[in-house]
Amino acid sequence: MQIKLTHEKAEVQDNLIVIGLYKDLSLTPTAEHIDNVSQGYIRKILEHGDIKGKVGETLLLQQVFNVRADRILLIGCGHADKLDGEVYQRIIQCAASAVKRVGTKQATSYLLELPVNGHHYPWRIQQSIITTLDNYYTFDQLKSKKKPAPQLEQLNLALNSHEAGDGCERALAHGQAIASGIKFAKDLANLPGNVCTPTYLAKQAKALHQAFSSIKVRVLEESDMQKMNMGALLSVSSGSKEPAKLVALEYFNDKAGSKAKPYVLVGKGITFDSGGISLKPGRTMDEMKFDMCGAASVLGVLRAIAELQLPINLIGIIACSENLPGGSATKPGDIVTTMSGTTVEILNTDAEGRLVLCDALTYAKKYNPKTVIDIATLTGAIVVALGDQKAGLMGNDQLLADAVLKAGETSLDPFWQLPINEAYKRTLKSNFADLPNISDGRGAGSITAACFLSHFIEDYPWVHLDIAGVAWKGGRKKGATGRPVPALIQYLINCSNA
Ligand code: BES
Ligand code: MN
Ligand code: ZN
Repeated sequence: MQIKLTHEKAEVQDNLIVIGLYKDLSLTPTAEHIDNVSQGYIRKILEHGDIKGKVGETLLLQQVFNVRADRILLIGCGHADKLDGEVYQRIIQCAASAVKRVGTKQATSYLLELPVNGHHYPWRIQQSIITTLDNYYTFDQLKSKKKPAPQLEQLNLALNSHEAGDGCERALAHGQAIASGIKFAKDLANLPGNVCTPTYLAKQAKALHQAFSSIKVRVLEESDMQKMNMGALLSVSSGSKEPAKLVALEYFNDKAGSKAKPYVLVGKGITFDSGGISLKPGRTMDEMKFDMCGAASVLGVLRAIAELQLPINLIGIIACSENLPGGSATKPGDIVTTMSGTTVEILNTDAEGRLVLCDALTYAKKYNPKTVIDIATLTGAIVVALGDQKAGLMGNDQLLADAVLKAGETSLDPFWQLPINEAYKRTLKSNFADLPNISDGRGAGSITAACFLSHFIEDYPWVHLDIAGVAWKGGRKKGATGRPVPALIQYLINCSNA
């Protein structure tokens, strides 16, 4: 899809144009303009009550008098004073769906002129692009007969004349890069476990280096991990024929300077989580192919940052493994030694995410990070606590937590902070090793998982994102969402401006 910022006035030929209408039946400026040139055509329709201006309501008009565009899509925008970021996203979503149904190849949106509470003008450009591209996303790589999906070849975003400028061009670039990062993450996560193995993820990382020479890739094999004493990570892959991979992607930007401390992202990359010997129940177990969404989001973010050539240094580390039962699988009660030296009693082999992450977090220290954010589909408990709206956020540094929370709000990819403290940490007690991999209590599963990770955090600011509830959808619309790629990129963009 080609996306352009345009300055035309609602008179483009062979085109579909999208204009807004509020709940009180007042018109947006371009709708007003079209009503004028068409001698009150829009108002007449409103009198008939065919559209009432509710958020997302649509009405398609053909051959409107005196308007050169073939079709006009009227879209309801609700109450002007309630139009916040989320409503704006819903409006764009509904508009994109309607345009997709019509099947037109070109469309011009006049929805940048909607004032949005709490967000500036370039944000609307960025969000329009991300939401529209996401709406057109399809995943049919593995269907033998591909249904021809409607394609929008060109999307024009009509600018208010006084808004043109650098900020708008930047928003165009940001929106496109974020959208391509989201797509990259979704494509990887939607692949089945028999295709998307740890080896496949390592190959994808190398492919990123081919596409963007600014990304260097280092792949640690199991033999390397053995030398570094990553006993926790290796304990997860021991039941599988697929070897584990620890992949580091290094993006250094000249403008940031090679001495600037890098931001580090660490992603959980379990390409299938059966639970291991602590086997999961069968229902919806297929969805455990999504247990690498943390890793996928790290790859998506690196792609976008390299595409934007953002002036920061950034490291992505993905800890990739399968978690399967087998003759050499780890058993409950087994004790392993981590890279940090801490010994861990594995009481439940289904708590494997924290085992791959703890060694990856120790490994992260060698980069002397400015901040570390880990991203993981870590606990079912976070789904119970927060559902699919907000991801869980925990950490050891409130400044960093606030920066990530803020980026989440801006990008409509939000988090909710949960506490970690000594009282929670005390529930991690082992009679035989330094640390068990699960707590002795039954409550606060997401928090105690973060407490486990906190034992491996060195003296850097750290945030843990538990994305188990938001990274994919189940049911009829089963598929990856690409979250939290938008929030992470927004965080890094904010850092690059600071
Ligand atoms: N990948 C799962 C977390 C998960 C479960 C995500 C269900 C989405 C839906 C993780 O590896 C896991 O199995 N966690 C266990 C931890 C428990 C054994 C302490 C869980 O949450 O049940
Ligand atoms: Mn598990
Ligand atoms: Zn898991």
